[in-house]
This record gives sequence, C-alpha cells and structure tokens, in this order.
Amino acid sequence: MKIKNICCIGAGYVGGPTMAVIAQKCPEINVTVVDINEKRIAAWNDKDVENIPIYEPGLSKVVDEARGRNLFFSADVDKAIDQAEMIFISVNTPTKAYGMGKGMAADLKFIELCARQIARVSTSDKIVIEKSTLPVRTAEALKNILENTGNGVNYQILSNPEFLAEGTAVEDLMDPDRVLIGGDIDTEKGKEAVEALVNVYAHWVPKERILTTNVWSSELSKLTANAFLAQRVSSINAMSELCEKTGADVNEVAKAVGMDSRIGSKFLKSSVGFGGSCFQKDILNLVYIAKSFGLNEVADYWEQVIIMNDHQKRRFAANIVRTLFNTVAGKKIGFLGWAFKKDTNDTRESAAIYVADYLLNEQAEIVVYDPKVKEEQINADLDYLNTRSEKENRQRIKAVNDPYQVSKEAHAVAILTEWDEFKELDRKRIYDEMLKPAFLFDGRNILHQSSQKAIGFKTYIIGENCDLL
Ligand code: UDX
Ligand code: UDX
Ligand code: ADP
Repeated sequence: MKIKNICCIGAGYVGGPTMAVIAQKCPEINVTVVDINEKRIAAWNDKDVENIPIYEPGLSKVVDEARGRNLFFSADVDKAIDQAEMIFISVNTPTKAYGMGKGMAADLKFIELCARQIARVSTSDKIVIEKSTLPVRTAEALKNILENTGNGVNYQILSNPEFLAEGTAVEDLMDPDRVLIGGDIDTEKGKEAVEALVNVYAHWVPKERILTTNVWSSELSKLTANAFLAQRVSSINAMSELCEKTGADVNEVAKAVGMDSRIGSKFLKSSVGFGGSCFQKDILNLVYIAKSFGLNEVADYWEQVIIMNDHQKRRFAANIVRTLFNTVAGKKIGFLGWAFKKDTNDTRESAAIYVADYLLNEQAEIVVYDPKVKEEQINADLDYLNTRSEKENRQRIKAVNDPYQVSKEAHAVAILTEWDEFKELDRKRIYDEMLKPAFLFDGRNILHQSSQKAIGFKTYIIGENCDLL
C-alpha cells in the first residue's frame, strides 16, 4: 500500500516535531497536523517560523522547509481524517486526576474522543497509529470503538511509540536508535499495514533499525524503556544523598560505574529530580497495570523509583530552608531555570515546580529566570497544584528577563535547570549583589565547589560533600 496522505491528531511536543521530520523526509506524502486548539494551530502557521509553539533546536528550520509544501497545520480535524490513509494519534494522555485509578492510571478520554471522531468521519479504510504512550492493551480499546461505531470501513491499528527526548527531538527523529512498530503481524492485512509504516520511515532510517513486533510488545516496550531510564536517575540520586553524607563525589562514582560497559555512562547525572511529561506518568501506569494483575512486588519495585524522585525534590527544598537558618519567610530566593531540562520550554512535572511549592509554603519570595519559560506558564504550573490561591501565587513568585535580577539582593540562588548559559554568568557580580552570606544551591551539578568557595559563596552541590550540611 502506498501512503499519500498522513493525518496526525495532536500538534504538541510529539506530534509537531515528528510530523515535521516525516514531511521533510517524504516530500511525496502530504502530512496534515490537526489540533482542537486553534491558537496552537495558528502559532504553527505563524509567518515568522521562529514563533512556532514548541522550542526545539533545529525544528524551525525543518518546519520552514516543509511547511506549505507537504506539511500543513489545520484545525479542520474531520477533513484531514477523511483524506488520510494513515492517521497518527498523538494527543496528551495525562495521569487521571479523578475517579478510579486517580493519580495512577492514564486518562484515555482524549484518545477515546479521537477514536470516536475517526469512526464517525471515515469513509475509507484507515491505518490508525498510536503515537502517544499508552497503557498496554489500549489498542484493543481503540479497535473496539472503531469497529463497533464506524461506517463499516476496515481499520488496522498499529503501535509506534515515540522515543524522542525533548531538547534533542529533531536529532533523535533524524537518527533514531530504533523505530518500533507493533501490529497484527499474524494476519496479511496487519502485515501490510506494518509494511506501509516501515516504508515511511525507510525514507531515512536504515532498515535494520526498524523493529516490527506485535502490538502488545510494542506498547510494553515503551513503558519499559521509560521506566529503566527513570530508574537510572533515581539510582544515581539515591547515591547522591549517600555521597553527601560520606564525602564521596557523585560525579566520580557515576564516572567509575559508567565505564563498566554492562552499565554504560549515559543517564547517570544526579539532579534535583527528573521531570517531563513521560517518566512519572509511565511508571505510575506500569504500577497500576501490575497492581491490576495482583503483581504487588512488581508494582512496589517500580513505585520506589517515584518515591525516590519525590524525596530528592523535597530534600533539596528542605535543605534550602535548613541552611537559611531554618526560615525563608519573606526572604528572596532566586531560581535559575524552570523548564524540566535544558533546551526546552516544556515545564511539565519540572522539579522546579515542586521546589517552589515547598518554599512558598514556607513563605519565601521567589524570583525566576528561565530563558524559554514565561511568567504565565510558571503561574499556571503552580495554580495546577492547588496549594494556595492564584492571587497568592502571583504575589509570591515573579519571573524576570535578566538572570542578574534573580540574584540581586537575594538570600539564596538555586539552579533548577542546567541551561548552558548559566555556566557563563558573571559569578563575581552575582556574589557582590547578593545578601551575605551568599548561598548557592546547585540542583544540577554544574558548578565546582572550589571555584565558588574562592569567590565567597556558601555552596551546596547535589551529591557532593559540603560544609553546609
Ligand atoms: C559479579 C560482577 O559482575 C563482577 O563485576 C564483580 O566483580 C563480582 O560480582 P559474578 O558474580 O561472577 O560477577 O557474575 P555475573 O556475571 O555478574 O553474574 C551474577 C549473577 O547474575 C549470576 O547468577 C547471573 O546468572 C545473573 N545474571 C547476570 C542474570 O540473571 N542476568 C543477567 O543479565 C546478568
Ligand atoms: C523521555 C525519554 O528519554 C524519551 O525517550 C521518551 O520518548 C520521553 O521521555 P524527556 O522526558 O523528553 O524524554 O527527557 P529526558 O532527557 O529523558 O529527561 C527526563 C528527566 O530526567 C529530565 O528532568 C532530566 O533533567 C532528568 N535527567 C535525565 C536527570 O536528572 N539525569 C540524567 O542523567 C538524565
Ligand atoms: P505530547 O507531549 O504527547 O505531544 P501535548 O500536550 O504537547 O502532548 O500535545 C497534545 C495535543 O493534542 C494538544 O495540543 C491538544 O490540544 C491536542 N488534542 C487533544 N485532544 C484532541 C482531539 N480530540 N482532537 C484534536 N486534538 C486534540
């Protein structure tokens, strides 16, 4: 089967970049990305390509090349569904905030809405692809809706989980470690659908890196990959606390451990805690699935990764309070960074949100600088927690456009995101303009203890023994 028209439902962090790269690499295929959020679609269509709603290094260039040629952004969801032979579902699947499975299971209401819309609109056969991370066996639910409410057309459901990391999305899409496609490979029609998607990726990905399997293995592989990655971060973070108490340096430990080729050196950077839209959600999902099968030991094992991560965020915040003579009430604390990692404007589940929430409960006054995050996003993140009134959040936290405003007359400065530009700041100036003693809390392990000491800072660096503790 030759694919001429692709539709992607959801113009977010996954759908946007993925479709931009597919369009750039497959000029003969028309790719239409649709979203119910008209503002977001308008931003993707902004004349100035630098204004697209998602910041990813290299993305605006790809969009610029393909947009209007064979890449389109539209709010007319029905039309795009009708015209496509292949439909990617790339809508958000947050953790349920209500009812059964609250706080654990993935909320599939957006996915279900998509399925019902596809079933209503379609008048020709479709290949429907799950792109969002979903709990194992979601494909079955999709199939049920499509086949029982549709217009009698045939559907093939594939799972094609996305492994891109934010901040390196374009790089990851252009040169992926592997592409995983799950389908109904025991039937002829299923095999054909898988082959059609393989052929799309084969435009630029070497065949040996395109893996095909059954739908359930594909779905579970995605959850497993994210769980393993998050577990590495929690493992090194657990060691960071032990290092601080014993005088070992977590960077040295990570280096020595990582040189064992069986372990590998990536993803061993200790931090104030992992964030992002995937890790926590996917592990909670895994825990929920395990529990639903009565596998309590399996569930507890993975839940510990989250418990460790929550602990890491809390102890970083508690450390600030303890060090500042047990009170931060009315004190200005400067935050460098709000995004969940560098090179992205995404703040979902960012450790900064939870550290801020803790300090605001202690009546601190917080001033934030992040090169890509705006004040309205910071307010929205805090409002979402529902810890205090919206008014109080706006009184106690401010965002600024100049990093030196963060440190000016601050009692403490905390690094929450590892933006490269933070390494270049004039530390002497920061020190001079802060109140004394000038406390510096490095939640990203980007500073060196000795050079801060020489300037005069009292410094805490995660995973390093220091005299502040
Ligand atoms: C281990 C460490 O590998 C070595 O670096 C250290 O110096 C001593 O401890 P060893 O116990 O000899 O070495 O064997 P190893 O190959 O690590 O296996 C340990 C156990 O894990 C075995 O029972 C092995 O069967 C099991 N294992 C290992 C698995 O079940 N799955 C694996 O993927 C790897
Ligand atoms: C992750 C997976 O990497 C990706 O494959 C999947 O498709 C989506 O989820 P992402 O959340 O974009 O990607 O970013 P990632 O680079 O994995 O970082 C996640 C969090 O872990 C960040 O908060 C990051 O700062 C933190 N982290 C990562 C560490 O604290 N230490 C590390 O060594 C690596
Ligand atoms: P991800 O990181 O998974 O890409 P995002 O939240 O960035 O998640 O993007 C998901 C997008 O999907 C949002 O822009 C949202 O408006 C869109 N969306 C959700 N439900 C629907 C739907 N039924 N039809 C069209 N778009 C939808």
